[in-house]
Amino acid sequence: MRTEYITWSREKGYEKEALARAAEILRNGGLVAFPTETVYGLGGNGLRKEASMKIYAAKGRPSDNPLILHISKREELNSIVRCVSEKAEKLIEAFWPGPMTLIFEKSECVPYETTGGLDTVAVRMPGHEGARELIASAGVPVAAPSANTSGRPSPTSANHVKEDLDGKIDMIIDGGGVGIGLESTIIDLTEEVPVILRPGYITREMVSGIVGEVALDSALKGKDLSVPPKAPGMKYRHYAPKAQMTVYEGKAAEVTEKINEMASRYPASKVGILATEETKEYYPHGQVVVAGSREEQTIGQGLYGALRKFDHLGVEVIFSECFSGEEQSEALMNRLLKAAGHHIEYLPGK
Ligand code: TXA
Ligand code: MG
Repeated sequence: MRTEYITWSREKGYEKEALARAAEILRNGGLVAFPTETVYGLGGNGLRKEASMKIYAAKGRPSDNPLILHISKREELNSIVRCVSEKAEKLIEAFWPGPMTLIFEKSECVPYETTGGLDTVAVRMPGHEGARELIASAGVPVAAPSANTSGRPSPTSANHVKEDLDGKIDMIIDGGGVGIGLESTIIDLTEEVPVILRPGYITREMVSGIVGEVALDSALKGKDLSVPPKAPGMKYRHYAPKAQMTVYEGKAAEVTEKINEMASRYPASKVGILATEETKEYYPHGQVVVAGSREEQTIGQGLYGALRKFDHLGVEVIFSECFSGEEQSEALMNRLLKAAGHHIEYLPGK
């Protein structure tokens, strides 16, 4: 299959014909990758089971891992879910459009192929204007997982999508870099107390500020990996670069010292170091990749691109600083630890 490329820009929007073509592909059951404010999504008609099956095939994704339905207006929610609780209404009012996905009981028109066999459905109204325009033109809820090959870091640029899906999908829309860089916060609203299934830009504090008590899925709490997460996708190895990665947590100076000591055991071309703008100078030996700046809070935005860069560099081992204590630290550490297969070492401190 030849993949068609079009662009969207904040200033100029879409070329009219290009938007019409993208919307038509979606309506007819084809696949279009598009930018959102979190990561790029791989869109298909969420009400057609053939389209959802194509999405799983293109990503190489296990079909028990449900997709998120993307909508462009609040009204579109009514036909795809059974009911919208008062708490849901409050969260929608506060955070949509935006990086928040809500889980509801699904209505009959949503095929089980889209929900991975579940009776619930995940729904999100993206904050990205172009994404909403595309969904509105398609006139159907758009099922869209992140537009990466299953297991690889989610794409934060059209180039990342191209790396993974060129020749496998109908169209890729290049909307430049994304704003947030980590996937949406997922909140399960099917129980009395809302439960966060995946941390994201919208934090637990922000959610509880609107609806009061909020729980964290128990699989997110501890290091006990035997508890299965309620979001099926959270159980898979994810976001992972090809090389084995170890994260070091401790005082900044000790982390740097430890990483330098570990790095010196390998040839410089084979060892990767994940650092920040503020610390990159401290590593004389190895392939230093900058995730972003602590001060400017761009680590979330740059993390996945940095993880992909290690694959291009062909390093065999990666040592990473810890990104706790940042604004988005819950989401950041969740992704970082998954990428590292939960290899973390706590430095004792002197
Ligand atoms: O920011 C995002 O959410 C991006 C952009 C493209 O919108 N999308 C995204 O989709 O991250 P995906 O498929 O990569 O991740 C969806 C997650 C998976 O972990 C999946 O298991 C969970 O949502 N999920 C979907 N439907 C669910 C349901 N009914 N119950 C529990 N978890 C669900
Ligand atoms: Mg994903």
